[in-house]
Amino acid sequence: MKLLITGGAGFIGSHVVRLFVTKYPEYQIYNLDALTYAGNLANLTDIEKAPNYTFIKGDITDAKFLEDIFAELSFDGVIHLAAESHVDRSITDPMSFVMTNVVGTVNLLNAAKNSWAGNTEGKRFYHVSTDEVFGSLHNPEDFFTEETSYDPQSPYSASKAASDHFVRAYGNTYKLPVVLSNCSNNYGPNHFPEKLIPLMILNIQTNKPLPVYGKGENVRDWLFVVDHARAIDAVFHTGKVGETYNIGGFNEWKNIDIVNLLCQIMDRKLERPEGTSAKLITYVTDRAGHDLRYAIDANKIMKELGWEPSLQFEEGLEKTVDWFLANQEWLDNVTSGTYQSYYQGMYANR
Ligand code: NAD
Ligand code: DAU
Repeated sequence: MKLLITGGAGFIGSHVVRLFVTKYPEYQIYNLDALTYAGNLANLTDIEKAPNYTFIKGDITDAKFLEDIFAELSFDGVIHLAAESHVDRSITDPMSFVMTNVVGTVNLLNAAKNSWAGNTEGKRFYHVSTDEVFGSLHNPEDFFTEETSYDPQSPYSASKAASDHFVRAYGNTYKLPVVLSNCSNNYGPNHFPEKLIPLMILNIQTNKPLPVYGKGENVRDWLFVVDHARAIDAVFHTGKVGETYNIGGFNEWKNIDIVNLLCQIMDRKLERPEGTSAKLITYVTDRAGHDLRYAIDANKIMKELGWEPSLQFEEGLEKTVDWFLANQEWLDNVTSGTYQSYYQGMYANR
């Protein structure tokens, strides 16, 4: 098995690459990543010398490059994670989301289709997507199932929805052996500190304001990143061609409750008097078009593929905080340079 994993230097991708490199020594794993601001080879130093691992620097918006590497390496499978992934960035720069998430995905589909022309036996194209394509839930009883209609509300989710539609269209039209999953919010080690949980950990540690959008009442359904990687393993190996699997932890939290919980954990770990970090909470202008609630019904993957989350949220959050406190150099590296200027520009006027 020659397996191409795109976006493997990013947050979730690095956990998927690690799992596959270590669990399947008989596979050759190729990690293709453009190393944007979100891609970081330091996420993979523990496995970078493994004999079954190869890193390829490249951009999925470059169709010719993809055709060339498929011709040269004849991949048997693809797990596609490369994407622009941050909703706030999609609001300020939608076109880069169209380019990577839509055009890049179609380039990859074309490269696989051309490489596998006439012989898709044993081949698989797995597209990793998000629950945000389903839009925003307003009735507390509702969950996103695999049958929920798409209703994306942000440029990010619109670009991911478009990419999902193209993947299914290639499955239907060209009989490409596709499989998809739509997952809820991930958290854990290596999470880039522009997203809620790592940003709050960083700001608590450095005594900066904790920017809570709106009233902090938006709800997200959180899953530990290693559990998502385990689910991707299950879907890649045992999911049915043409099917979609929703992945989530049945673990809904209001943003403000997560921020308060992180403040308590950090006060304890940093040996600060109780209540110190919570004083940093600052309510700021809401995200434009902010989705109210996401909640995944994960019954299909649990029943059909036997997957279930391995960690309770409080335990996962403790592990996450411990990882960030023990990896100061990683944090310093990703909060310098381009990211730092973006971060200051973005929050200076809040
Ligand atoms: P991330 O932003 O941390 O990583 C994305 C990776 O893709 C980076 O390594 C980046 O360098 C690479 N990349 C970006 N543009 C590229 C291009 N044009 N060519 C090649 N590589 C490129 O993202 P993440 O949070 O790890 O998300 C990975 C995937 O999972 C995405 O498709 C995302 O939509 C999906 N997803 C994320 C979450 C979440 O909570 N983070 C939840 C569900 C689904
Ligand atoms: O649901 C899956 C999605 O989860 C993934 O597809 C995306 O790639 C991923 O970024 C994530 O999207 P969210 O927008 O839900 O994640 P984010 O961490 O940006 O925000 C989580 C919630 O916290 C959201 O309601 C906005 C809020 N928030 C976020 C930041 C960065 C704040 O209140 N303050 C902040 O500073």
